[in-house]
Amino acid sequence: MSAQLLRGMDVAQKIRGQIKEEMESLKQKTGKVPGLAVVLVGENPASQTYVKHKERTSKKLGFYSEVHRLPAKTTQAELLHLVEELNNSEHIHGILVQLPLLEHIKEEAVIHAISAEKDVDGFHPLNVGKLVIGERCYIPCTAYGVIKMLEHAGIELQGKHAVVVGRSNIVGKPVALLLLERHATVTVCHSRTANLAELCRSADVLVVAVGRPEMIKGSWIKPGAVVIDVGINRVGGKLVGDVDFNAAKEVASWITPVPGGVGPMTITMLMVNTLQSFKYKLFQR
Ligand code: GUN
Repeated sequence: MSAQLLRGMDVAQKIRGQIKEEMESLKQKTGKVPGLAVVLVGENPASQTYVKHKERTSKKLGFYSEVHRLPAKTTQAELLHLVEELNNSEHIHGILVQLPLLEHIKEEAVIHAISAEKDVDGFHPLNVGKLVIGERCYIPCTAYGVIKMLEHAGIELQGKHAVVVGRSNIVGKPVALLLLERHATVTVCHSRTANLAELCRSADVLVVAVGRPEMIKGSWIKPGAVVIDVGINRVGGKLVGDVDFNAAKEVASWITPVPGGVGPMTITMLMVNTLQSFKYKLFQR
């Protein structure tokens, strides 16, 4: 058996088309466009690439885009000052400070400083709390992207056993909450989970976000399972996921390739959240 490929770009393109249409109609009506500010401190090469992609997508969709590239010596106080300016800017509807931050800056302080209304990453404790209790909020982009891909493929979640491997605030925890909200039975696994292989084998839907190349073996996949691999690892100049793709695709019913799987969805959902913020502001809701 060979699994069907669940490609993020197909879903991303469809959603980007919808964003563009909605944007243009709002621009005609109001003369305004959504604005996204991205802040990068230092020169982490992976972060530089992500930021460049965000800037490019923003512009392509017709958003107002600001990218603040700050030197590695920037102090926490200077960064917080910039965040405050962006919180107060009427052109900016979404603020994203690229993570990870350098050691001398406390991630928590920066996340707390971003206005919850412009927190299009969904990392502010107010948005996290709302996600937990099922209130309207900004949903972290990668987790939101995973759910949109499952919806696009018509994969039923109700009553299914979903196993999430990884418990990060950015992906694992929000994905688990979103699956739960969609009536899946959810197990969250991590580096200290006993019987990881066995738990993975019981998954109808397996979402992996651990950042360890090809850690999940083909023999850990239940026949017919849906496998979502969020990992992007560079191994010898090649990108591989957290799942052994070649082995897993022989067992799964659906699987995301790496690259080309979840990746394109993250930026798309960032644009969705920024457009949403713009609409809240326009319609004062
Ligand atoms: N670094 C890796 N993923 C993300 C993300 O989704 N948002 C931010 N701000 N930083 C990241």
